[in-house]
Amino acid sequence: MRQSVALMSRGPAANVTRSLEPVGADLFRESARGVNPPPQKINDSSHSAGAHMTSASFTDGWLPPGTKLAIERIDAADIEARAASVGIRAYAENLVPKRRLEYLAGRLATRAALQLVGADDPTIGSHDGAPVWPPGFCGSISHSAGLAVAVAARSRDWRSLGIDIEARIPVHRARILQKAMGAVEFEAAQASTDPWVWTRAWAAKEAAYKCLSALSVETAFEALVPRWTSTDHAQLQAWVDGAAIQIELECRIEDEVIWMMASAAVGD
Ligand SMILES: CC(C)(COP(=O)(O)OP(=O)(O)OC[C@H]1O[C@@H](n2cnc3c(N)ncnc32)[C@H](O)[C@@H]1OP(=O)(O)O)[C@@H](O)C(=O)NCCC(=O)NCCS
Repeated sequence: MRQSVALMSRGPAANVTRSLEPVGADLFRESARGVNPPPQKINDSSHSAGAHMTSASFTDGWLPPGTKLAIERIDAADIEARAASVGIRAYAENLVPKRRLEYLAGRLATRAALQLVGADDPTIGSHDGAPVWPPGFCGSISHSAGLAVAVAARSRDWRSLGIDIEARIPVHRARILQKAMGAVEFEAAQASTDPWVWTRAWAAKEAAYKCLSALSVETAFEALVPRWTSTDHAQLQAWVDGAAIQIELECRIEDEVIWMMASAAVGD
């Protein structure tokens, strides 16, 4: 496993809104090692970067070094206003409200993550639904369980990233995933008593798909079969421009939400 670095726990931008607490409160509890400042209420109207996760107990040891993560609650009352204040618009006028809010919240989180890794202009574009990152930066967006999250890094540190968060998929719905899984993978999941086995498998595919898609590689989900070395870590080999690359997958579960991070190293 990669060595972790303290992420937002030590930086000046270590802010967290209390409004985040009902969903995944444990994500934001103070580090047992005491490196976090206490959670602060931020004045969102003067804080275009939105809400940042600070808990070293959560971030340490799983996010790839040099990456930054930002989170928005999609039910935050001021999402629309903050998005408008920085020029973020939904891509269509007629989106249903939930989709509109998750899109705007995702873009706000993206701006925050990009600012945390030093982007002067944290504006992202869009192509066929996929984010287009500013030159010199990479990242990924996901939403689920009332949260919109974005991860970003400098391209000199990471070639590509993919993030996925998912609420737990109940076992009785798991059969729906069969089409997206390899036969051996599906059988192994069926034989497992781990209540997270299906969610972990699905989130890994989503995160790896995003990571590869950002490298212009479209892969069928059933071909994205990670080799799990523990419940927290897997590796997946993929091909980009005829060359094999390794995707690292790191996973954590907090308060009934799985967080999956895929990363492709520079030079792979
Ligand atoms: C693109 C995809 C990965 C999104 O994942 P999801 O779990 O549905 O949704 P998430 O909330 O985690 O992620 C959505 C975000 O992914 C990003 N995204 C969309 N397309 C993307 C792509 N091709 N590459 C990277 N990121 C992408 C967007 O930022 C989007 O958020 P936004 O529209 O608000 O900006 C998903 O639609 C997918 O699986 N597409 C591939 C089709 C496929 O093969 N599915 C399997 C069927 S068996």
